[in-house]
Amino acid sequence: MSKCITSALLLIAFGTGWSLANTIAPEDKVVTYPSNVRIKPGSYIVEFEEEARGVNVNAFIANIEALPELTISNQFTKVFNGFSVTTARDTDPVELARVRGVRRVWPVRFHDLKYSFAPQNSTSFFHHHMTSVDKVLRDLGIDGKGIKIGIVDSGVDYNHPELGACWKTPGCPWQYGEDFIGDRFDFNNDNPIIEPNKTPMDCDGHGTHVAGIIGGQGPEVHGVAPGATLGMYRVFSCAVGGSVSAPDDIILQGIEAAFNDGHDVISLSLGGGGWPEDPLAVACSKMTQKGVVVVAAIGNDGSNGMFTAGSPAVGRGVISVGSVDNWNITGQVANITLPSGAYRSVYVEDSNADKAPFVFESDMPVVAPLDATGSLLGCSEYPTFVNLTGKIALIKRGTCTFTVKVRFAQSAGAIGVLIYNNANGIMNAALDPAVNIPVAMLTADDGAFIIDGILQGNGSGISVVTIKSRKGAVGTFAAFTGGQMSSFSSFGPSPELDIDPVISAPGGSIWSTFPLSMGKYASLSGTSMATPYVSGTVALLKQARPNLSVNDIRKALMTSAKPLKDDNTGKLVHPYSSGSGLVNVYDAIMSRVLISPPTLTINDTNWGPVKDIPQLQSLGSVRWAVRSINVNNTDCTRGMLISLDNTAANSISMYSANGTLNLTPRTWPANSTTVAAAAASSSTLPQVFTQTKSQYIPAGQSRNFIVYIVAPYGLQESDRWFYGGFLNFTLKWDQEPAPSGNYVVPYAGFNGNYRALDVITSSTQSGLPALADANLSIITDSSQLVISKNTTAWLVYSIDVPTRVISATMLDNKNMTRGYLAYGYQEYNIRNLPNSGDSLSGAIITNKIYEDKEATVEIDVPQGKYHARLMALRPLGNPKNTCDYQIWDSPVFSVL
Ligand SMILES: *[C@@H]1O[C@H](CO)[C@@H](O)[C@H](O)[C@H]1NC(C)=O
Ligand SMILES: *[C@@H]1O[C@H](CO)[C@@H](O)[C@H](O)[C@H]1NC(C)=O
Ligand SMILES: *[C@@H]1O[C@H](CO)[C@@H](O)[C@H](O)[C@H]1NC(C)=O
Ligand SMILES: *[C@@H]1O[C@H](CO)[C@@H](O)[C@H](O)[C@H]1NC(C)=O
Ligand SMILES: *[C@@H]1O[C@H](CO)[C@@H](O)[C@H](O)[C@H]1NC(C)=O
Ligand SMILES: *[C@@H]1O[C@H](CO)[C@@H](O)[C@H](O)[C@H]1NC(C)=O
Ligand SMILES: *[C@@H]1O[C@H](CO)[C@@H](O)[C@H](O)[C@H]1NC(C)=O
Ligand SMILES: *[C@@H]1O[C@H](CO)[C@@H](O)[C@H](O)[C@H]1NC(C)=O
Ligand SMILES: *[C@@H]1O[C@H](CO)[C@@H](O)[C@H](O)[C@H]1NC(C)=O
Repeated sequence: MSKCITSALLLIAFGTGWSLANTIAPEDKVVTYPSNVRIKPGSYIVEFEEEARGVNVNAFIANIEALPELTISNQFTKVFNGFSVTTARDTDPVELARVRGVRRVWPVRFHDLKYSFAPQNSTSFFHHHMTSVDKVLRDLGIDGKGIKIGIVDSGVDYNHPELGACWKTPGCPWQYGEDFIGDRFDFNNDNPIIEPNKTPMDCDGHGTHVAGIIGGQGPEVHGVAPGATLGMYRVFSCAVGGSVSAPDDIILQGIEAAFNDGHDVISLSLGGGGWPEDPLAVACSKMTQKGVVVVAAIGNDGSNGMFTAGSPAVGRGVISVGSVDNWNITGQVANITLPSGAYRSVYVEDSNADKAPFVFESDMPVVAPLDATGSLLGCSEYPTFVNLTGKIALIKRGTCTFTVKVRFAQSAGAIGVLIYNNANGIMNAALDPAVNIPVAMLTADDGAFIIDGILQGNGSGISVVTIKSRKGAVGTFAAFTGGQMSSFSSFGPSPELDIDPVISAPGGSIWSTFPLSMGKYASLSGTSMATPYVSGTVALLKQARPNLSVNDIRKALMTSAKPLKDDNTGKLVHPYSSGSGLVNVYDAIMSRVLISPPTLTINDTNWGPVKDIPQLQSLGSVRWAVRSINVNNTDCTRGMLISLDNTAANSISMYSANGTLNLTPRTWPANSTTVAAAAASSSTLPQVFTQTKSQYIPAGQSRNFIVYIVAPYGLQESDRWFYGGFLNFTLKWDQEPAPSGNYVVPYAGFNGNYRALDVITSSTQSGLPALADANLSIITDSSQLVISKNTTAWLVYSIDVPTRVISATMLDNKNMTRGYLAYGYQEYNIRNLPNSGDSLSGAIITNKIYEDKEATVEIDVPQGKYHARLMALRPLGNPKNTCDYQIWDSPVFSVL
């Protein structure tokens, strides 16, 4: 015990021990990705020490090239110090790490574009009212002119009339760009073909959509910064099997080229991983230090809950962007006519558009058949007398999957299916590829409208409800979720507890340009769409205030954003979901204050009485942190009085009341009833105290506010809440006209000891972690488990929180570690994401183990009794300190 305390103290005194480069063994420099990360075999990114830059690059190249069967595919010098290399399959990457000056060797991994396709259409200016972009474009006459934005994406259809219909000609928005990948790249292939074209023409659609969000010239698509000069760096190829993916060594080439062309802003609607140490995140951080504003998508893993923020968004200094749903959805419209003659135009979300579009050029009868159980849910077969031939079946959502419902209707003869919601809003349906009839989703209200009509028509014998849905017919509808965080938007915090995303923008149901050959326009949803939106606002801000530094731009945008309200509780949305809130570029442009830091991460709470604050002394022991905030009055002519308030946000927890993992974060207050209880007792909300609530700041000067942030102390500690809120600064200027007046700084922390937070899921329900047989069935009685030449088993586990290092070893009956299991050492692990089909991780138990982390030196395990040990580094832990790990020991098994 005392030994552990000593090494922890040493760590504090000397900083993070593991980054002291010259003490690291070559084996430790090779990063082993988790087994669920898709890598490109034999390809690596080699990162050099910072000091190594420029010293003797040629010697490095010579040393690296001296290694057998190895070719340098790219050298990076601008924003990343290193190379990408391809090696013979059996080259041990440790050989690369032995070259002097090498910091880390990363396997090349794949990154995805962050969007989902919804075949919709919409009129486009509406979302600019949410963000005051409308005011900036119209009233200030600022449109991004003179600002250069580099987009790293899937290319652009520059022939689109609303994107200039030009390429690099004088006056064309497209003055920069290049293709790095070509059309034939298949990410499923181990040796994919890379054949860049002369121009970055888009065959996927994503890049063209992103380009329109920034630079759309109208009349249908109005970009945020239609006057900006653009560059497209194409690193994603055509979709294969409906998805696009690219290796990070190619993405890094695109990023370096964009940097080289001197863009003011670089926009990255892509990601994967989730660590600030990832090569792309490192490159992005470096660009921000060199004066480029980097904007990146936080990710679309919101359905998996907290700790889903992606890389490069979590890179230090990067503006990470979350998505807010558009107020309006425009999409396919259908006309429903009742027997009474009443009719209604409804929004239909076409769910099988690729295979069988929901198009009926003439009125078709709609029926609501009862299944074998007499229910409208359609979860069992229809009785034989139900004949749906020539009819469209209306089915209620719930109980079984959409595919099951459609299959039963299809086998009863239905020519189409309408599924209506059992809750507010409209849903997207993922259907089995075998479904080959048109399927569309309706709102609950539109479903009820049809049911009423069918009841009216009953008995009349002839009159029926009909639906007509013409090809290309579109309409605009109010979205139920307009102005709320999109359900797909990933949650922070970063693995190191930083607030991510830092800001949010419209990204759900965005209408923008699409390649001419693919329909010209489309509506897509994703943090991919919110990201170019923010990149456009940065261009507006930069044009209006050219002297702002990268950091000042970040501060101005973040502190002038508007926190979102949770409609359920009336409280503010937690910063781990929305960052500072919805971007408001007009206020950022007009602001005459710079507030720093723009976010407060409470990772190191004190425990005890708060002596300096009289009101708090009586509370006794509470968790608190003290921070200093600087407010800089950049107006040279006017002083101002600035005052500070605190508005608490919802607290969120990834655990349900019984302690099990809950993918949808639970909130406190839970609902409007509990809001009242919370208001009555401040103890369940975070509180902020200051010695000086207001200060006068003379023209051109700055002042500090010391704030004491007190964690909620009336909430169950075992619930593991992450609390948060917003410091709210109100300005009163000496002279009118007053620039707009409210600025926020979000804060967030953990109501407990963050460093002691468990990483490995320990669940009585799922039984994890556990030993499992070769079919991944959990073994309940391990005394029966005998590992031999022919029997292997698994150590299966799941992780709730990202962990820097996870190891799985085999120990003998004297508790001595004998070696690593296969897949027994993995670094930079992200969480398991059950809603993305990734609920389990594992290491393999055989009668062989490995001496080294890279699993190259094999050892035979002598006969005997053994157990496996799983170790996962806790948040902010030191990989070298065993006391910082969460440890799980398996039951004992035998090896023959
Ligand atoms: C919808 O149907 C009604 C009745 O058949 C018709 O009067 C109306 O024009 C239709 N609306 C549209 C938009 O097609
Ligand atoms: C269902 O109805 C269609 C036409 O209405 C008819 O052709 C078909 O034979 C019927 N099927 C059954 C199984 O009765
Ligand atoms: C989108 O809507 C506009 C009218 O708002 C229409 O002109 C255009 O044809 C529609 N595009 C598609 C692909 O449906
Ligand atoms: C668009 O959304 C706004 C805000 O919810 C709403 O007022 C408006 O009616 C919507 N437009 C349409 C055409 O539904
Ligand atoms: C904790 O937060 C502070 C303030 O944001 C930061 O400077 C520090 O690096 C963080 N500590 C760790 C271990 O992440
Ligand atoms: C900040 O204070 C102003 C004025 O009191 C108020 O209108 C606004 O809603 C507050 N904002 C937040 C995020 O608390
Ligand atoms: C714990 O609570 C969750 C959510 O309320 C529930 O789904 C789960 O079944 C519960 N688990 C146990 C073991 O009670
Ligand atoms: C509101 O939350 C409280 C406490 O979590 C719970 O007891 C109550 O049932 C909830 N009410 C509603 C309407 O959900
Ligand atoms: C305030 O901001 C201005 C403009 O960025 C800067 O020049 C000045 O140094 C800042 N002052 C302080 C005290 O931070």
